Amino acid sequence: MDIKGKNVLITGATGGMAHEIAKLLIKENCKLALFARREEKLKEIVKELSKDSSNLIFQKGDVKKREDIISMIEFTKESFGSVDIAILSAGILVPNPIQTFDSSIIKNSLDINFMGIVYSIEQLLPVMKKQKSGAIVALSTLPDRRGVPGWGAYGASKAAVSWLMESLRAEAKQRYNIEIITAKPGSVETPMIEKYHRQGAITPERAAQLIVSGIKKGKKVIQFPLNQVLMTRIQDLFPVFAYDMMPVELTKGDGYPTVEEE
Ligand SMILES: NC(=O)c1ccc[n+]([C@@H]2O[C@H](COP(=O)([O-])OP(=O)(O)OC[C@H]3O[C@@H](n4cnc5c(N)ncnc54)[C@H](OP(=O)(O)O)[C@@H]3O)[C@@H](O)[C@H]2O)c1
Repeated sequence: MDIKGKNVLITGATGGMAHEIAKLLIKENCKLALFARREEKLKEIVKELSKDSSNLIFQKGDVKKREDIISMIEFTKESFGSVDIAILSAGILVPNPIQTFDSSIIKNSLDINFMGIVYSIEQLLPVMKKQKSGAIVALSTLPDRRGVPGWGAYGASKAAVSWLMESLRAEAKQRYNIEIITAKPGSVETPMIEKYHRQGAITPERAAQLIVSGIKKGKKVIQFPLNQVLMTRIQDLFPVFAYDMMPVELTKGDGYPTVEEE
């Protein structure tokens, strides 16, 4: 896909990966509409990225709120005339320990990580159908096929994203010429995982390069880095008894909170 000069909307734009993606897209002469909840941080990023404010707009918004998403997509369309690419990167990572199993953690993860994407797609499809073109890139995660101890809230929300994107992909392309792309990063050193000391995490700059080059190459699923892709997909093949023999505390990873029984 040729991304030069495209109008791109980015959610979670104050985040580690999206910020780096924005830096790369500005170099491709894209016009960017940036969205996140922290307005001051958005202002800083806009200042850093370009002197030309007509190329770069931002709006404070919460992807949990459907009305904020309606407003952000309207704002982008009115400002730029079209939405060519949407990169849906807003997300949270919250552990949900079995000792204090709490539906509110799971609901909040689903509201932000999954429903935020659902509301965005609901607003983007009519715009892109009218344009007869467009690309929607949603951030899922590499381990999106099997449950990971302690991380069910996050994993369920991301598995739902992967499923939804896959269910839309062929039909969106065949009927409307809309590209549906799922990005599935392994560990990336962003604020999201700073408490969790993930070994082998790649830099957000590298992750952004891989996502942008994947979009350019026309990939429908962009998963990286290769060593983590191989490990994860091999684990996906483990029979249940072997999968369940992996030590739980090790699987949760370094930095997982220690929780007392209630
Ligand atoms: N880092 C990793 O290892 C990794 C691996 C696989 C997948 N991912 C996924 O990649 C995406 C980007 O993650 P990242 O690593 O760049 O994380 P990050 O640095 O924590 O960025 C996440 C961004 O999401 C925004 N956000 C959170 N809740 C929001 C809400 N309710 N409404 C609007 N924006 C919201 C935050 O901005 P505000 O606080 O300003 O709203 C923040 O800028 C996420 O979807 C994440 O799940 C990350």
